[in-house]
Amino acid sequence: KIIILDFGSQYTQLIARRVRELNVYCEIHPFNHLPQFDDTVKGVILSGSPYSVRQDDAPQIDFKSLEQKFPVLGVCYGAQYIAQHSGGEVKPSSIREYGRANLQFIANDNVLMKNISPASQVWMSHGDTIYSTPDNFEIIASTDTVKVAAYHVAGTNTYGIQFHPEVTHSTEGKQLLENFLVDICGCKQDWNPDAFVETTIAELKAKLGDDKVVLGLSGGVDSSVAAVLLHHAIGKNLHCIFVDNGLLRKNEFEAVLDSYKHMGLNVRGIDAKDRFLSQLAGVKDPEQKRKIIGRVFIEVFDDAAHEVQDVKWLGQGTIYPDVIESVSVKGPSATIKSHHNVGGLPDYMKLKIVEPLNTLFKDEVRKVGKALGIDPLILGRHPFPGPGLAIRILGDITPEKVAILQEADAIYTNNLKESGWYDKVWQAGAIFLPVQSVGVMGDERTYEHVICLRAVGSLDGMTADWSHLPYELLAKISNEIINNVKGINRVVYDISSKPPATIEWE
Ligand code: XMP
Repeated sequence: KIIILDFGSQYTQLIARRVRELNVYCEIHPFNHLPQFDDTVKGVILSGSPYSVRQDDAPQIDFKSLEQKFPVLGVCYGAQYIAQHSGGEVKPSSIREYGRANLQFIANDNVLMKNISPASQVWMSHGDTIYSTPDNFEIIASTDTVKVAAYHVAGTNTYGIQFHPEVTHSTEGKQLLENFLVDICGCKQDWNPDAFVETTIAELKAKLGDDKVVLGLSGGVDSSVAAVLLHHAIGKNLHCIFVDNGLLRKNEFEAVLDSYKHMGLNVRGIDAKDRFLSQLAGVKDPEQKRKIIGRVFIEVFDDAAHEVQDVKWLGQGTIYPDVIESVSVKGPSATIKSHHNVGGLPDYMKLKIVEPLNTLFKDEVRKVGKALGIDPLILGRHPFPGPGLAIRILGDITPEKVAILQEADAIYTNNLKESGWYDKVWQAGAIFLPVQSVGVMGDERTYEHVICLRAVGSLDGMTADWSHLPYELLAKISNEIINNVKGINRVVYDISSKPPATIEWE
């Protein structure tokens, strides 16, 4: 495997993604929490950083001892750090280097630069520049403004690059990373979904033995894939619990429960609609709603889990970005929304945690799901927030509003599927707006609520663009909703992107 040491750059996760795309397993670790450097480690990548190496409080590592054991690739801050700690000089650049640049000089005989084309485009993002390097540093690429765009420390396996190969604007960045991983580190590129499934099931068997595991299914991709992996490992000792909180899409609970049963999962569906809706009655504040849903979910789950005798483990569908998020190098940032609707389990449950997907990115989870033969309908589903329709009904929630939104949302979703747009957008849903406006139906004046349609394109939900759905499709959906959903006389389309808006309205 490859270890990526994180100095806090916004691009660190991208480095990991690229390495995985090259079928090499890698892990990100914060620079101040080093992992075990055992025999399985084939190389180390040092990330970029918001710090400057010239700052007194800049992140530090024992680079020399790493360099003696492993091939090392420093990216941006990492490259500057190596240069500075080897006797080179790093200074602020006269102009801030940001954006696309083209390599002017490339030493293609150096293995890191193998197969990189003349004038290859790279992405720069740095305020400092490597001004001078020690004699044993061989410069292997330059641009017209950055002399030391890439270097190799002669006689070692240490390399540095000033640009960001992980960003797609570095058009041959992946080739460069492959050169490092395969030719320099000797990685085999054998990490793939099938290999993952096989080793994970074997590991789970060894770890869990005859123990029982409880797992909460949400209907989403992550918990479903986690459940199927565990099912392959321990069969009926996996006890799945699927809670109907009354805030799911129309008919979703029954349909999803059915497909879980078809997959052979040992699953129990629990109707807790009334419990959730009664606790939510009259509550308007979005964060308050999330907290209540989180709390009631734990109560319901806890009751159900207690009915399973001698359970030892709690299974969870946690994926790698959640893990990185909780250990990453970062400053304090404002809570925009508390996304974690399940806030953890009460201590008295004393369960050990098993998270079979905690090394995977979202797209990898889908691939693993495919390798496991899971229904494409489950794997291809749009993300759906844990608090469900509760955060798509602005203000307080009533069973009537939930019913109206479910109808409108079902019409919207069906039309997206029929028109082929469902798979083209990343996420879509209808929102209930608690404002009333005047309309006319037949000869009657109406004074009813508004449904807003939302559809976005995104890679990971962190940023998103509103989707340009065709007017004809919007017109058809609007007509169907207004004609069929009682209580709605107006439909609008959300044309805001994130940032500055967010995907959900609450
Ligand atoms: P926002 O609204 O923050 O949403 O742009 C980004 C992604 O996160 C989902 N989301 C949630 N997921 N619990 C969840 O499990 C939540 O409280 C929550 N709030 C937002 C949202 O659907 C989108 O995919």
